[in-house]
Amino acid sequence: MKNFLLCFGLVLAGISLISSCKTEKKEAATVAQKVPSSDEEEMYRPNFHFSPKKGWMNDPNGMFYYNGYYHLYFQHYPDGNTWGPMHWGHAISTDMISWKEQPIALYPDELGFIFSGSAVVDVENTSGFSVESKTPVIAMFTHHDMEADKAGEIIDETQSIAYSLDEGLSFTKYEGNPVIKNPNIPDFRDPKVIWDENRKQWTMVLAAGQEIMFYASKDLKTWKLLSTFGEGIGNHDGVWECPDLFPLPVKGTDETKWVLFVSINPGGPNSGSATQYFVGDFDGKTFTIDKNFQNELAKEHSFWVDHGRDNYAGVTWSNVTTAEGGKLFIGWMSNWLYANEVPTEKWRSTSTIARELGLIKGTKTYQLISNPVKELNRYRAQKFIVTDISVEGETVLTTSKTVSLSMTEINFEIPDVAEEGYTFILSNSQGDELTFGYDATEKEFFVDRNKSGKTDFSDKFTDRIAKAPRMESSSKLTGKILLDKTSIELFYDNGQTVMTEIFFPNAPFETLSIESDNEKFTINNLEIHELNFN
Ligand code: FRU
Repeated sequence: MKNFLLCFGLVLAGISLISSCKTEKKEAATVAQKVPSSDEEEMYRPNFHFSPKKGWMNDPNGMFYYNGYYHLYFQHYPDGNTWGPMHWGHAISTDMISWKEQPIALYPDELGFIFSGSAVVDVENTSGFSVESKTPVIAMFTHHDMEADKAGEIIDETQSIAYSLDEGLSFTKYEGNPVIKNPNIPDFRDPKVIWDENRKQWTMVLAAGQEIMFYASKDLKTWKLLSTFGEGIGNHDGVWECPDLFPLPVKGTDETKWVLFVSINPGGPNSGSATQYFVGDFDGKTFTIDKNFQNELAKEHSFWVDHGRDNYAGVTWSNVTTAEGGKLFIGWMSNWLYANEVPTEKWRSTSTIARELGLIKGTKTYQLISNPVKELNRYRAQKFIVTDISVEGETVLTTSKTVSLSMTEINFEIPDVAEEGYTFILSNSQGDELTFGYDATEKEFFVDRNKSGKTDFSDKFTDRIAKAPRMESSSKLTGKILLDKTSIELFYDNGQTVMTEIFFPNAPFETLSIESDNEKFTINNLEIHELNFN
């Protein structure tokens, strides 16, 4: 039998709890993304994650911040709902949560499709593209020559640039493209440029076969190869793509380490696409992996930015950090295993929530942590706090009569995780269920979407239960759950283990319950926020 905890201080059979529910309304800041209509097609349109109005989307590209706006470009095929001739779509936001789609920024041309890449604000006009003192924004991307690809030529990918003199709205392709020719390497793509303040030059990382190549330039047009990284290091079970390189302060110390991201497809921890990371030092020329990190890597084989199946090709905003020096990140919330088949028609794919990245020194080595950007807190509308819940059997925590379960942030704390399993269950009257939680015996988190609704569009969608190791050793477990219509993002132990997964229920989820293998346990704080985007 299910027990019920109604989040207004009601106590029902089988649960003894003291609750102190609070309701609080706050005005949300500007909102550009529309709350979806009841139109069938829009049934899966997310409430607070970016999705293109129409057409296909994959990787985030070219993110920079300028004059109060965060820019997000993305791999886009506007004329179809599967991957096709790649353009750069564009969206802007003042807070990385509410996005406003803009005209397409880059179209395919005679050199090929416009694959992934990055953009920088060239404040000192190193490129010389400035006219009338306008600050140029330079995009660097891969030209993918489809004809060469079809003909089986290795050299189908080159690197090119384009500049914008209207703050990223429109771009002019550089007449000297490509700026880096292909040195006979397959999968030679996805340039990510950063400004190296110490050496007053641009550094660029590029996926090149099974390695990352490091380049430098003074003017963004002429590039010099500095070094390579990756042979025999980390996971090589798939193609290396979409690298990123950035420094991060180590929390609680005065140390700074460099982090290198490499997306890989397939080879992810739960199959398909995922992003691995490496921690080390960068001297302006060479990335050297931290010795201790390398030792741990030898045991673990890879460290993952996100263990869920739906966070791929994510990179960071090029010229902005949080007040603490954290980098800002967004990923593509899908997986190449089934991205082309998910059940939406006019548009396909969404982005993850924007996240703040940090670095901690864990018990074994440096560890990446990620959490939703703080700007999301501004959208908290109704808030329910329940303290000291003693849970017995399957207990309903809340229902959609009280709080929406598709624009929701839930924070919880279990003070003493015992050797048992804790399972959250999202369900609806159609019999769909998404379960997720923690198996303390295995020290593993899990997400099971096998019965979550529409799943038959691909066998790969439900071929396993996604699992992720717990990194934290403390007996206190904290978690943050972000729910949208078709996605769950789980941030455990302050972002030490993250899992992002998508799902397509036949009707919105109506009930959130929890159960444990053990008869009884306590949740210290349960905080449920309905988010308001109106
Ligand atoms: C990653 C990726 C990139 C490439 C782009 C093409 O998802 O394969 O390597 O540039 O997608 O759309």
